[in-house]
Amino acid sequence: MRTPLLAANWKMHKTVPEAVAFVTAFAPRVAAVTDADIVLAPPFTTLGAVADACRDTRIAVAGQNLHWAPEGAFTGEISPGMLAGAGASHVILGHSERRQLFGEDDALVARKTRAAIDAGLTPIVCVGETLDQREAGKTPAVLARQIDGSLAGVTPAELAALVVAYEPVWAIGTGRTATPDQAQDAHAHIRRCLAGLGGADAADACRLLYGGSVKPANAEAIAGQADVDGALVGGASLDPASFAEIVAAARRAAG
Ligand code: 13P
Repeated sequence: MRTPLLAANWKMHKTVPEAVAFVTAFAPRVAAVTDADIVLAPPFTTLGAVADACRDTRIAVAGQNLHWAPEGAFTGEISPGMLAGAGASHVILGHSERRQLFGEDDALVARKTRAAIDAGLTPIVCVGETLDQREAGKTPAVLARQIDGSLAGVTPAELAALVVAYEPVWAIGTGRTATPDQAQDAHAHIRRCLAGLGGADAADACRLLYGGSVKPANAEAIAGQADVDGALVGGASLDPASFAEIVAAARRAAG
C-alpha cells in the first residue's frame, strides 16, 4: 500500500517571516496526521527557517531545484549537499516551469536526479504534456519520453523510493484541472512506463502525484483514483487552511 504524499510547491513565494508564519499556522492542523506524508518546498532563502520550524513535526522539506555538482564555480546555483545540510529531504526536479522557462531537458533532469539520489535526497520528478501535445494525441508518447529520459540510469530500488509528479502543463496555474479520469489515465500510463524502466514491483511502489490546479474542492476526487498517490500543489498550498484541507481530502480518498 502506498502512503499518500501531499507536497506544497511554493515556487517564488514567501519571505522568511511569511514562511515561518505558514508553518506556525499549518503544523497544528496536521499534527495528528500519521497516515500521509507532507512535504513543503519553499524557496531556497527560506528553506533553513522552514526546516527549523518543522523540526518537531512529521512535515518534510524539499528544494525546488538543484545543481548536480557537489560544489564549484556555478554562480547562483545550489548543490544537493547544501539542500540536505539546510534540512531538506526531498527535491522537486524537472518542473515544467524549469523545462519551459529555463531550458531544462530530460538529460539534465536525469543528471540532477542522479545527484539528488547520491546525496540522499528523494527526487520528485515532474513530467507532463502541453495543451498542444494533448490535443495532437501525443500525451502517451510525451510522458514515455520524459519518464525514460528523466529517470535514465535509475535502479529499480531507487525507482521504488522516488516520487513522480504528473503535471499537465495546461492545468498549472490555470484553474483548469485534469478530470479524475484524465489523471488516472495518465498515471496508469506513467506506471506502465515505470514498469518498463525498473520492473513491475518498483513501479508499483513508486508514488505518483498529480499536480495542476489542485484545490480543496477537487482534491478528494483526484486523489481517489487508483494510481494517484497524492498531489503536488502550487497556488492552493500557499494558505495553511487551504493546504490542510487538501491533506484532509487526500486522506479521506485513501481511507
Ligand atoms: P498550481 O497548483 O498553482 O496549478 O501549480 C501546480 C504546480 O505547478 C505544482 O508544482
